[in-house]
Amino acid sequence: MRQKLIFSVLLLILVIGLFFLILRNTQSTTSNYQKIETSTDTTAIENGVHINTGLIEAEGLHLVIAHCTSCHSAKLITQNRLSKEGWQETIKWMQETQNLWDLGNDEEAVVNYLAKNYAPTDIGRRASLKNIEWYSLKD
Ligand code: HEC
Repeated sequence: MRQKLIFSVLLLILVIGLFFLILRNTQSTTSNYQKIETSTDTTAIENGVHINTGLIEAEGLHLVIAHCTSCHSAKLITQNRLSKEGWQETIKWMQETQNLWDLGNDEEAVVNYLAKNYAPTDIGRRASLKNIEWYSLKD
């Protein structure tokens, strides 16, 4: 009778111990991973921006995604601002040194998209003043 009681208590302790062991393990494995929100919808567009790449939605977007996002992030595009000639030069440079393929008939649409949506902006200069009320200096 006494032995049976000791045995049951030991068994209970073992089960509780096991329970906490499993609980701890599941907790530590889940906390090692961080859930990152990603869009599995590769066509998703929000506020005029293609979610997966950050590129502006405009004519030619899909050609740019197809030709320009397989080697590097689209961030290289979105953080650059170049003239039409500048974009053409960059493409030529990548073709000559980075194995970028011939864009063929798509080149024009790609360059137009880039030149239109990622053109240099003139920031740092304020617009000239208008409607100024001049007054004459008195001596
Ligand atoms: C075959 C691979 C490949 C493809 C496709 C590709 N690039 Fe690149 N691109 C590169 C490499 C490599 C670099 C250099 C990356 C670095 O410096 O880390 C680069 C750099 C750039 C840069 C930065 C240039 C600089 O002056 O630092 C821009 C902008 C760029 N690419 C735009 C584009 C555009 C636009 C397209 C589509 C027409 C494109 N890339 C397609 C390989 C590629």
